[in-house]
Amino acid sequence: MNLSLPIRPRRNRVSENVRSMVRENSLSLSDLIMPLFVIDGENNKQPVESMPGIDRLSPDLIVEKCRELAELSIPAVVLFPALEDSKKDPLATESTNENGLYQRTLRSVKEAVPNLTLITDVAMDPYSSDGHDGVVNEKGEIVNDETLPILAAMAVSQAKAGADIIAPSDMMDGRVGVIREALDAEGFTHVGIMAYSAKYASAYYGPFRDALDSAPKHGDKKTYQMDPANVREAVREALLDIDEGADMVMVKPGLPYLDVIRAVSEVSDVPVAVYNVSGEYAMAKAAGLKGWIDYQKVVLETMLGFKRAGADMILTYHAQEVATWLNS
Ligand code: PBG
Repeated sequence: MNLSLPIRPRRNRVSENVRSMVRENSLSLSDLIMPLFVIDGENNKQPVESMPGIDRLSPDLIVEKCRELAELSIPAVVLFPALEDSKKDPLATESTNENGLYQRTLRSVKEAVPNLTLITDVAMDPYSSDGHDGVVNEKGEIVNDETLPILAAMAVSQAKAGADIIAPSDMMDGRVGVIREALDAEGFTHVGIMAYSAKYASAYYGPFRDALDSAPKHGDKKTYQMDPANVREAVREALLDIDEGADMVMVKPGLPYLDVIRAVSEVSDVPVAVYNVSGEYAMAKAAGLKGWIDYQKVVLETMLGFKRAGADMILTYHAQEVATWLNS
């Protein structure tokens, strides 16, 4: 038996100093993007039952929350509106209402916290009486090309209200190009596009749909969101979006799709974001509250996993907690 092993990888783990010197990836505050849910009213705060620690907030409380996040050095938020049923219709007309809940909120946040980057969501589902991301025809099909002008108008309306980056999450074909053209035509050449390029038809969105009451009223989203079995298709979607003018691409969900982040980051010449979605948050939170895992350590390890896989940015409901830990 040879007792003097030629190779001893443990030497590089011998102390925290050495470990920190050889560390390949790191997590920083500038990696974090916090999603927020907006509801109407004043001083109105509704907990999302399936996401302990996360509330739907009225515009005044969203402004307060955004101040806190900016003070923690979180660079960006992404906003989602939770609308009453009476505001929803088949063509999502409320989505372009200049005085709608979403646009009002964007204006107040931009005014109160101008240095916080505002990312807005483009898709029909929060405004659609069908609960789908696109227009539904009489046969119940989600029709692509009829949806595109609605998405483009939504993007322009959000840019007018103060959006810095538009994030189309609808998965219609060709929407990035159409949105880019519409933004440019209205003079919003400086407004970026973060494309949800590889967005899977995932069961992990459940708590989000509870938060917005946006679950599809019939059918599922499998004709537009991707099949969880595929990775080559994700690369194709990302390259198409980049070709159409996306400034950043996204993979969603996160944890079950680390290989997809890796594949996309290897071919992408624009930054890659990952969305650590509502179901992922709910699982970690629930196990943490039960005392079954060390919540802080598990969350930080998860975030680092996204960085190691190749993500440049992480949309996560843990963002505020993570920022608090990183700051202390
Ligand atoms: C819809 C949208 C969804 C999410 C973000 N935008 C849900 C869906 O496609 O049904 C999910 C985010 C999450 O689960 O945290 N356009």
